[in-house]
Amino acid sequence: MNDNAKRMAAAAAVEMVDEGMRLGIGTGSTAEQFIILLGQRVQAGLSVIGVPTSDRSAALCHELGIALTTLDETPTLDLAVDGTDEFDPALNLIKGGGGALLREKIVAGSANRLVVIADASKQVAVLGAFPLPVEIIPMARQPIAQRLAALGATVTLRTNPAGAPFRTDEGHWILDGDFGPAISDPAGLARDLSSWPGVVEHGLFCGMAECVLLGTEDQVTIVTT
Ligand code: 5RP
Repeated sequence: MNDNAKRMAAAAAVEMVDEGMRLGIGTGSTAEQFIILLGQRVQAGLSVIGVPTSDRSAALCHELGIALTTLDETPTLDLAVDGTDEFDPALNLIKGGGGALLREKIVAGSANRLVVIADASKQVAVLGAFPLPVEIIPMARQPIAQRLAALGATVTLRTNPAGAPFRTDEGHWILDGDFGPAISDPAGLARDLSSWPGVVEHGLFCGMAECVLLGTEDQVTIVTT
């Protein structure tokens, strides 16, 4: 579903990569297309170095011969490329459907530019139809679930296929807060969530994306604010 559109967006992002760049490398099925196409350029001689946003993106990079580094060694990145679960006209994002929001936000925040790659299913007028991932310390589950519910969200603890709590790469849990398409003040909600003890990070990325490369079957549109 939408695979070609994802590949089109990913290909446009790969064209933005120049020799010697320090890259942030995203997570998810769209970012995987980017990694695969980047791997082809690396195999053809391009030299870049990347910080992956998840263990699974790191594994794919290793497989394809893309050199990896850490933010300890390379604290500033030239360009981060990542997917999204939703974006609004102001290019606020909901991310974290794949559970990698914490590393994704750290990497995006360390990059001079964040370019988002997406298909049309991710474009919304108002954020919130996609449940907002909130990464938490396990002992804070109930207080944070209550606070999210008080803001009008239906809250679910994310689980793995065995029914146990899903653990992020950093060992935390995720509460998914379903607000419906009604997050009218993403920056305000982001500030609230960040102030709650026990919230490690949340999936609202406000004011971070430079543009969205929006792929369709046969073309890519650059969406800016
Ligand atoms: C992972 C993410 C992904 O970028 C987001 O879920 C989009 O994934 P996909 O490209 O598979 O639709 O935020 O944490």
